[in-house]
Amino acid sequence: MNHDARLHTLQRQAEEKLAHYLATCRGPEQVLDAMRYSLLGGGKRVRPVLLVSTWEALQRPGALDPWPAACALEFIHTYSLIHDDLPAMDDDDLRRGRPSCHKAFGEALAILAGDGLLTESFRLLADEYRPWPRQALQLTRELARAAGCAGMVGGQALDISYTGSRLEQEQLETMHRLKTGALLGAAVRCGAILAGAPAREIERASDWAGKIGLAFQVADDLLDVVATSENLGKTAGKDSCQGKSTYVDLLGVDACRHYLHDLLGQARCQIDALQPGSATLCQLTDYLGQRVERHFA
Ligand code: IPE
Ligand code: IPE
Ligand code: MG
Ligand code: MG
Ligand code: MG
Repeated sequence: MNHDARLHTLQRQAEEKLAHYLATCRGPEQVLDAMRYSLLGGGKRVRPVLLVSTWEALQRPGALDPWPAACALEFIHTYSLIHDDLPAMDDDDLRRGRPSCHKAFGEALAILAGDGLLTESFRLLADEYRPWPRQALQLTRELARAAGCAGMVGGQALDISYTGSRLEQEQLETMHRLKTGALLGAAVRCGAILAGAPAREIERASDWAGKIGLAFQVADDLLDVVATSENLGKTAGKDSCQGKSTYVDLLGVDACRHYLHDLLGQARCQIDALQPGSATLCQLTDYLGQRVERHFA
């Protein structure tokens, strides 16, 4: 998240907080090492930054610390990447600019590192929000729903079963909303809950997150085609090689780029309804578009 000081500061803070909360996990070094390797080995930290930016934009007096939830969410996201790279799924050797977890530690430990991160994320929520049981329960529900079968896991299952077939836009959109949109949506909703925002504001924030979530996977599909592996820190060109159904596959590069532009434009308008003048949320939205557009400059 270059170019922008506030986003950069939040990203740096996320690195420190992740290291701090990971150090609260106890157990044999074998699995903790593999968890540390994947969690602290780079990544844009979009989800924690999104959670904390939403919290900043909506916070009321008495708002609770957003960082434990932001880190719990990045634990879950990192677990999803470790499992996504496994030979049984996308079979990807490169992640965040380094060998994937299973390449560095073997498949068994990579599976366990993912399981460890997922489980520890809920332990982290329970420990850190123990004095606020109502919010702790709300956050648990949000993360479980977003990560589970009606969210990321469900989306990954669709991704696997759709591999090799040609999809309608509606099917593709459902898959994208689940596999990627759900966790980004949880970032926004958890940020709003911890800010002490009223229910109607949480729902408005969710609508915005829906646009961002879909846009994010559309951008990821485009980047797979237009960026290099060095640029991405993961293997470029993998989707078409593996017969994955993507937006580029459905619409072609140009129409896909326009679609992304439209989604981000709609998200930009929704920020004004949500919290006029929230510079960080606007910058975060623009950043998602810029990641793609610089490859066409
Ligand atoms: C990659 O997510 C997987 C998708 C859901 C598209 P990110 O692009 O946020 O990956 P990191 O966290 O920066 O490595
Ligand atoms: C993965 O989507 C989404 C997850 C739930 C991890 P992709 O398979 O497109 O993610 P990348 O491109 O490998 O990061
Ligand atoms: Mg995948
Ligand atoms: Mg993948
Ligand atoms: Mg991808």
